[in-house]
Amino acid sequence: MMLSDYQELRDLVSKFADSEVAPLAASIDKNEKIPSDLVGKLGENGFLGSYVPEEYGGAGMDYVSYSIIVEEISRACASTGVLISAHTSLCVYPILNFGNEEQKKKYLPKLASGEHIGCFCLSEPNAGTDAGSLTTFAEDKGDYFEISGTKNFITNGKEANIAVVFAKTSKTDNYKGISAFIVECDSEGFEVMKCEDKLGIKGSSTAQIAFDKVKVPKENLLGEYEKGFKIAMNTLDGGRIGIAAQALGIGEAAFRYAKHYSNERVQFGKPLHAIQAIQFKLADMSTKLAASRLLIWEASRRKDNGEEYSLQSAQAKLFAAEAAMWITTQAIQVCGGNGYTKEYPVERFFRDAKITEIYEGTSEIQRVVIAANELKSLK
Ligand code: CAA
Repeated sequence: MMLSDYQELRDLVSKFADSEVAPLAASIDKNEKIPSDLVGKLGENGFLGSYVPEEYGGAGMDYVSYSIIVEEISRACASTGVLISAHTSLCVYPILNFGNEEQKKKYLPKLASGEHIGCFCLSEPNAGTDAGSLTTFAEDKGDYFEISGTKNFITNGKEANIAVVFAKTSKTDNYKGISAFIVECDSEGFEVMKCEDKLGIKGSSTAQIAFDKVKVPKENLLGEYEKGFKIAMNTLDGGRIGIAAQALGIGEAAFRYAKHYSNERVQFGKPLHAIQAIQFKLADMSTKLAASRLLIWEASRRKDNGEEYSLQSAQAKLFAAEAAMWITTQAIQVCGGNGYTKEYPVERFFRDAKITEIYEGTSEIQRVVIAANELKSLK
């Protein structure tokens, strides 16, 4: 795609975000639910299958386009942004990249159209950052596997129809012996136990899911047997670009609001933006957003070109998440007492930003990944 194509896409998504998503954002936050007709519109516009090839019912775009979509939608509503990101990066992508032809033909068209929503079941109550220590077990029963265990903090868990699930097929005390499966969420024994009451992204469901002897046909093994940890890590490399784009969208929303407020609000006989202390905050916000965007584009470009991108996706997520947290904090500061109230949207941006430093690998884990990549040449 050419630069002008990306600009055209951004304009189109931006118009959709402003007219269809932004007006609902406060009520999505308050009611803790994304209306199903909005999810339908995301599907109709190709935002849930952006980089799925046309032959599997997708829009046939690339990862740069996907990151633009997540950024623009998250600028309007971070909950809606992560619905797209978790669905696309964490469920659609592993099926597209590791699935066989039958699995792709069976599952991708409905995921790409939004008829089905996807989720990713890796984390467990006692296996968060230390993902390799998960204990959910898939017992080989001949024709099928039987999965039992509990998964935690599953984004889209309440709405999902299809889950990419990681479970051990051999009892080990580390990441070895993990296999990946495609699980249909209406299978017997698959049960959403509870949804978390969270600080932010309140419209996005974060579910605990119990697997009680869930039967999964042998043909739903995803990728190679007992290579599941690599599938999870590779999937998260791409997912982290999506979360970086979500953080960028939240930061951009806070920056635009702070700019608008600094123009409207008059103190000492002049608009706030005439005061250099405010100008400097706006300058730093603008610079951090530009740097985040370039890191995201570079990681996406490398992924599109088939180059290594683990380092770049960790850098993009680390930088964009910390930038979003800083920018949303400063946006409240610019808006003063008003910014601290629920009448103004910046407190929502601040609450929504925090999760980007936590999920799909904390900022500390991004630093671990970055350092490991930078230091490996010394070995
Ligand atoms: N791609 C492919 N393979 C990879 C990889 C990558 N990016 N990173 C590591 N691997 C492979 C290694 O090559 C190694 O394989 P070999 O045995 O063949 O050499 C294997 O994985 C183990 O590697 P490590 O020894 O580096 O693994 P580790 O156990 O020390 O863990 C870690 C590394 C970086 C800490 C990793 O566990 C990690 O990223 N943890 C964070 C997990 C995470 O992001 N959780 C978020 C949950 S998802 C989520 O948030 C869901 C949601 O719905 C929002």
